[in-house]
Amino acid sequence: MANVILIGAQWGDEGKGKIVDIYTDFADAIVRFQGGSNAGHTVVIGNKKIILHQIPSGILHPEKLCIIGNGVVLDLEALLDEMNELKSQGFFQNETQLLISEEAHLVFPYHRLIDIGKENKAGSNKIGTTGRGIGPAYGDKTVRTGIRVIDLFNEKVLREKLGKNVAEKNFYLTKYLGQEGFDGSALFEKYSALARRLKPNVVNTSVVISQLMEKKKNILFEGAQGTLLDIDHGTYPFVTSSNTVAGAACVGSGIGPTRIDRVVGIVKAYTTRVGEGPFPTELNDEIGLRLKDKGKEFGATTGRPRRCGWIDIVALKHSSRINGFTFLALTKLDVLTGVKKIKVCRAYKLEGKEVSEFPASIYTLQNCEPVYEEVAGWQEDLTGIKKYNDLPKNAKKYIKLLEKLMERKFILISVGFERGETIIVKKPFPSKNN
Ligand code: GDP
Ligand code: IMO
Ligand code: MG
Repeated sequence: MANVILIGAQWGDEGKGKIVDIYTDFADAIVRFQGGSNAGHTVVIGNKKIILHQIPSGILHPEKLCIIGNGVVLDLEALLDEMNELKSQGFFQNETQLLISEEAHLVFPYHRLIDIGKENKAGSNKIGTTGRGIGPAYGDKTVRTGIRVIDLFNEKVLREKLGKNVAEKNFYLTKYLGQEGFDGSALFEKYSALARRLKPNVVNTSVVISQLMEKKKNILFEGAQGTLLDIDHGTYPFVTSSNTVAGAACVGSGIGPTRIDRVVGIVKAYTTRVGEGPFPTELNDEIGLRLKDKGKEFGATTGRPRRCGWIDIVALKHSSRINGFTFLALTKLDVLTGVKKIKVCRAYKLEGKEVSEFPASIYTLQNCEPVYEEVAGWQEDLTGIKKYNDLPKNAKKYIKLLEKLMERKFILISVGFERGETIIVKKPFPSKNN
């Protein structure tokens, strides 16, 4: 009956995987619409921990359809690994559960090598990418030399496009980055085999999504990365190479903006960031370390430690405006247990003046000092709490303060990494009395 978009409101790793898995109970289909294998979305079910990279996090529900939309840059080798890993964990027993857009662009091994090579060459000026070839693959898409899933099924086209790309990439790899080049024919054989393997899953996903809508199904659109990593609205150039915001769900899945009913922003109860770039509320102290340890803040894709800091309302309001959040979902509230005084950044100070708009320039952002409001913390363990009213008084106060500053309500509070450690205040999909 409705279409709901889920978006990371900060710098990624807000807990989208966990929330998508929970919201899949209410959905019929789940669509990924941007990013690629740079994403790492974690779902914990009992003693099983599953990290999804390119496959929607709804895949653990065998009866739900999962779709990789046209806006994703797809790494087929990584996709097969992911499919096999899921199967070995007892999931994804029926391959018809997954559909792949014929319009999605492909990530080739040369994209990965260029990504890593450029980062190494940049030294201290590196972006801190995941090394998954995301920037180079979106680059090819934009300069119109990219190879799409549909091209895999036309031998002549694939051979020709790969030939041209490999020649150009080999020049760049060998002459500029000092790396080895690739053998075009070997890549052709490898990708032709991958194409044969995945052919049954490849369809026009825009048509499929539209048919589901006609049948009044509930569709969940799963964002990857976070708003502050958006190529236009994030902390450029310390961003990813796609639009990560709600607007991208339409473009990246081939549907019109009139079809969207709700946009839910996922907000971590504090802030984290992996990779380089400015981060005004970053904590390089004991509390930062405590958040990292208690929150197990290590990258789900690269294992890198995440930088941690207080929640940043200036950044979040920027995020809310760009995404048009209808509601919010709060994650990792349990991690703040035991912190005596919790700080909330409600404005920045820049050259002696208070500012409330997130600056476009990272050079300005670098000079912004957070202006904090302080609230009392709580000592109680939150992980077993199932009802909003059972939360400690000060946890509720913290939530209320965030709601007031954000001018939006939380419809879900996550109090642990496990599926069941969740308080659902309101269902994500609209219905008669919801
Ligand atoms: P995503 O990229 O947004 O899906 O987030 P990640 O999976 O990269 O990182 C979120 C991490 O926090 C994962 O390890 C989750 O299992 C974990 N997590 C999610 N929600 C909660 C929560 O409410 N409390 C705690 N303690 N961990 C959570
Ligand atoms: P999920 O979906 C957090 C960051 C990288 C780097 C920048 C560019 O799990 O939230 P890229 O490889 O995309 O070119 O890297 O973006 N980044 C993420 N940070 N979560 C992610 O995904 C990320 N995907 C990319 O660390 O700073
Ligand atoms: Mg992640």
